[in-house]
This record gives sequence, C-alpha cells and structure tokens, in this order.
Amino acid sequence: MNISRLWDEAQWDAEAQKDQFAIDVLTGLCSSPKQLSSKYFYDDHGSELFQKITQHEDYYPTRTEFQLLDEVKQQLTMHVEGVEVDIVELGAGDGHKSQLILQGFLEKGKKVNFYPIDISEKAMELLNEQIDSHPRLQIHPVVGEYFDGLKFVRKQSKNPIFLLFLGSNIGNFDRTQNQGFLRRLWKHLDHNDQVLIGFDMKKDVAVLNRAYNDSAGYTRSFNKNLLARINRELGANFDLDAFQHFGSYNPILGAMESYLLSTSAQKVYIKDLERSFYFAEYEPLHLEYSFKFLKSDIDFLSKQTGFEVVEHFSDSKGYFVDSLWQVQKS
Ligand code: AVJ
Repeated sequence: MNISRLWDEAQWDAEAQKDQFAIDVLTGLCSSPKQLSSKYFYDDHGSELFQKITQHEDYYPTRTEFQLLDEVKQQLTMHVEGVEVDIVELGAGDGHKSQLILQGFLEKGKKVNFYPIDISEKAMELLNEQIDSHPRLQIHPVVGEYFDGLKFVRKQSKNPIFLLFLGSNIGNFDRTQNQGFLRRLWKHLDHNDQVLIGFDMKKDVAVLNRAYNDSAGYTRSFNKNLLARINRELGANFDLDAFQHFGSYNPILGAMESYLLSTSAQKVYIKDLERSFYFAEYEPLHLEYSFKFLKSDIDFLSKQTGFEVVEHFSDSKGYFVDSLWQVQKS
C-alpha cells in the first residue's frame, strides 16, 4: 500500500498549516463566547480517542450505521454502471464501515479503486489493518484535507465516482456551512457521480445525551485533547484539570453541543501567540456542534445543492440515515 501524503506534494505546506491553526486558535479565543473548531480534534491522539468513543456502548451512531450498511451494501451498487468504480471516502477513519461498501461492490464483480482521505496518518494505518485484500481491490490512501484530497484523486480518476461521507461528519457543520460544503462537493464531481452521506437523526434527548457523555469518559478526554494539542503544538499551558466537559442538546438549533467550562478564574499563556487569555469562573469554551436531522432536512439539502435523492436507507429505530444521492448537471 502506497500512502500519498499531500504535505509531500506542492499543495500541502506544513508551515502554512500550523500558521492557520495558530490563527484559528487566536480568533476563537478572542471571540465571545470563546470557541475552537472541532476540525482540530483529529490529530493522531484525537483520532485514537475518537475510535474508542465509536466502540463504546453509549455511543450509538457508529454501530447503528455499521449494521445499516451491512444490510444495504448490495443495494448501494445498483446505480453504478461499468466494470470499474472509484470509491472516494472523506474522513475515512479506521475503515471499519468502508470495508462493507467495498464488499458490496466486489461481490458484484466490480474492480474497485479505493481512495480514503483523512487528515490523520494514524487513522490511515489503522484502516490498512482493517481492510481485507482482494485481487480486484486497489487501495490508495491520501493523507490530507477533504478537498485537497479530492482534487488529487480527480486528477487520476477515469471512472465514475462513488463518494462516501459517513458517520454524520456533516453534522459538524452548521446549517449554512453544510450547504456551502455540499455545493463545493457538487462542483468537484461529474454528472451521475454518486455520494452516500450519513445523517444522524433527531431522537430522544436521553439517548443523545448518553452518546455525548459516555460513562468511560472518552468524550471528555477527546475534548480535552484539543487543549493538550494547543499545549503541544503552540506551546500553551492549559491545565486540563481546570476545565469541565459539558455536552448537551440544544433543541432550538437541533444540535448536540460540547463545551469545556473553566472551573476557576484563570489565565492561559500561549507562547506561539505571544499572549495570554483570561477565563472567568465557569466561562464556556465552545468546541463542537453535532447537528441532528429530519428526512425533510435531507431532501431540502440535496435539492438546494444540485443532487437528486436516489434513496434514504434507515435502521429500524430510525436513528440514522445513509442517503444515496446522484449529481445532477446539465
Ligand atoms: C465525527 C462528527 C460524527 O458528532 O457524533 C463524537 C464526533 N464528538 N463524540 C459526532 C463526536 C463527540 C462525531 N462526528
């Protein structure tokens, strides 16, 4: 297996990447309320913690989607023509779910080129262990950001694209950002390419709260790892014990939100930013949105952004939907 690291390519500049992180931290901590972007959760350590969350009993989305994909994997292949398909996955993670999709296409007799794209190289190594080899399967992992990765893949792809954006990763965007994201995706694809997008649905608040406050404390560590990452990469002195994890459902937004609360009045110094930041007692630091959907939201989103819904696939409890869309271009 040959991993393409986009930071070895012209389009990846490690220095610029780190500057962007520093700027985003600066902007976020100067905002009111203070905030940081959840996209920075996924350094190698964060990706490992996230994998632990997904395996925990309290966190229903991953196993629900896994069982769902296992049930529908044959049906997913029905609208893909030709003998060869390029499966591209954004934020592939450990590849546990990808394996099922690959199986569906391989059992159909197709030749499959799989391009998992993820910002964590560690995740790509886990994925490599997870996926069984097959004579008709080629794997080309790409380490980089979603659209850098997609552009890179497009340059070498000659087959119809079947793009995966699973796990309700889309829930991290707010309701305007997700339209921007999907339209950008549309722009990078051709007429009749297909996308399969995972959406976590609105449901009993008790189930949601349990999932984002797991009893093993993995979610708490996952959130605090972002402060640890700022300590490591930007030379800060966040005291992780002086922050409390708080995850809660906001019914007006229709989203789970997670915060770290500063349990005392404190000052944090960040060397690379050459300044300190003051936190008042119980001041919130906002880290993540995890939006929840209705089927009508999914239909609306697809229409707004240039796709046609082929089919919504859902589990028996209606907890999760994997929605298959086709790109419409004239
Ligand atoms: C990776 C964005 C789908 O929102 O459920 C899990 C991230 N955060 N527990 C989600 C997450 C806290 C996860 N996504």
